[in-house]
Amino acid sequence: MRKLHAIPLGMVAAGAATFGYASLIERNWFHLRRLEVPVLPPGRPSIKVLHLSDVHLTPGRKRLARWIRTLDELEPDLVVNTGDNISHREVIGPLLDALGPLLDRPGVFVYGSNDLYSPVLKNPLRYLWRTSQADYRRRQRLPDLPYRELGAALTAAGWLDLNNRIGRLKAGGLDVEFGGIDDSHVNRDRYDRIAGPVDPQADLHVGVMHSPEPRNLDRFAADGYDLLLAGHTHGGQVCAPFYGALATNCGIDRSRAKGLHRHNGAWLHVSAGLGTSPTAPFRFCCPPEASLLTLVPRTS
Ligand SMILES: [Fe+2]
Repeated sequence: MRKLHAIPLGMVAAGAATFGYASLIERNWFHLRRLEVPVLPPGRPSIKVLHLSDVHLTPGRKRLARWIRTLDELEPDLVVNTGDNISHREVIGPLLDALGPLLDRPGVFVYGSNDLYSPVLKNPLRYLWRTSQADYRRRQRLPDLPYRELGAALTAAGWLDLNNRIGRLKAGGLDVEFGGIDDSHVNRDRYDRIAGPVDPQADLHVGVMHSPEPRNLDRFAADGYDLLLAGHTHGGQVCAPFYGALATNCGIDRSRAKGLHRHNGAWLHVSAGLGTSPTAPFRFCCPPEASLLTLVPRTS
């Protein structure tokens, strides 16, 4: 009888230990992913792009805020923020504080759904069989987080608002053209507003979005964008060893839930992001990350 009880008790203990590791250790084990992307025309100088995504800042996450503040030491030529910065209405100030000197650098941003809508408690296992996109449609909630205040603060610092907009910046001596869309996960993407071929006079063409939805990736690539940057997936957030992401919460395949890949001739970088929703405060086999992309000339 004692042996029969020992097995379930062992499983409960292992589950508790795994949850403790995922929520207390890995969730705060911030990584910097460094990648080289051969995307520039021959002869152009390389530039460093810092890709930030899915910070999901809440008032208690001081360690995360401190780590973000160290990233300016990388001296990026450009900062790209692909949304889901906040998960609480009182964190615009702490977020700006964390970004700190990065705001003095050339930067661009789009919103993610969590910049607009406060988190709702739900079963994280549901992502295994469907995305949360339908939840937003069904509830028809009005935005309750101060995303306009967030956008105004980032714009006041000099960053370009790319929500369904085109923009242009000088970064590291390059003339960079951007096209961006608002979050497709909450049906705010309006690619038609930015549709059209890129300007061949620009040195680099960057497409920026929160969710790497294939229908939008297809259009960016068809219009000639060289580099596509997205977040949203959290890299799966909970991954299985030797298998990877269990879900992406959008239309992209599991194998491209994070990292650098190709999409119809363009380079695609999906950030696994730095945070988690406060209603699912854990990460497993998928540590939080920011990415430093060194863009270099193409070899052919
Ligand atoms: Fe997110």
